Amino acid sequence: MSLIRLEKIEMVYGSGETRVDALRQLDLEVERGEFIAIMGKSGCGKSTLLNILGAVTKPTGGSYLFDELSVNQLTAGSAAAFRNRKIGFVVQHFALIKDLTVKENIGLPLVYQGCRKKEIAKRVSEVLALLELEDKANCYPAQLSGGQCQRTAIARAVVTNPEIILADEPTGALDEENGKNIMRIFSELNQKGTTILVVTHDKEIAEKCNRTVVLKDGRIVAS
Ligand SMILES: Nc1ncnc2c1ncn2[C@@H]1O[C@H](COP(=O)(O)OP(=O)(O)OP(=O)(O)O)[C@@H](O)[C@H]1O
Ligand SMILES: [Mg+2]
Repeated sequence: MSLIRLEKIEMVYGSGETRVDALRQLDLEVERGEFIAIMGKSGCGKSTLLNILGAVTKPTGGSYLFDELSVNQLTAGSAAAFRNRKIGFVVQHFALIKDLTVKENIGLPLVYQGCRKKEIAKRVSEVLALLELEDKANCYPAQLSGGQCQRTAIARAVVTNPEIILADEPTGALDEENGKNIMRIFSELNQKGTTILVVTHDKEIAEKCNRTVVLKDGRIVAS
């Protein structure tokens, strides 16, 4: 049984003249432990696909099973809980909370899970070390470089030890060395069993993955 099974997924934004068919009859299966690159031109539907996988957006058609759970049928509240428990999401524009420090941003998913303060502090300090952010722990996002924001967003996505990581161009704002570091961290997590899907425009990054899915005009053209 696949971890993820998408069948005939459709995503239509707007209607009439402004209608956009962002995903068309898209089928995708992901096995546990896969490390997948998602590629394709700007506007082909990569972020839309990730948002559906992360239960951020409900598709306008088709079915989405995650470990036999029908994700499309979840209420907004259960979708949020599903996301918090199962998924580490690195969104395209980081979405850090500006009034919280790096440390607090990273710990937030654990606060939502109701973890104890001591446990949160321990886990947060582990991922701060993993992402080399210890010296920025008490800074606010406005005091960070683009790459540091990106690493904070990645730390926040991995802090819960999610079953699956969805990362939308996680190395986009990073220099080559930092980009390689992120991919090394993802590879290590993948070797420990985390399933990872990463959107990238970078062929070298895609080569580090086990499979590449290519989208064109809302359809998968290679996988
Ligand atoms: N909220 C929205 N409302 C209307 N149209 C949208 C919305 N979000 C995305 N779209 C449209 O859906 C299509 C797919 O967008 P998407 O963001 O998934 O592309 P992408 O492959 O992630 O592109 P990029 O590489 O530039 O990030 C685009 O034509 C986009 O304009
Ligand atoms: Mg995108």
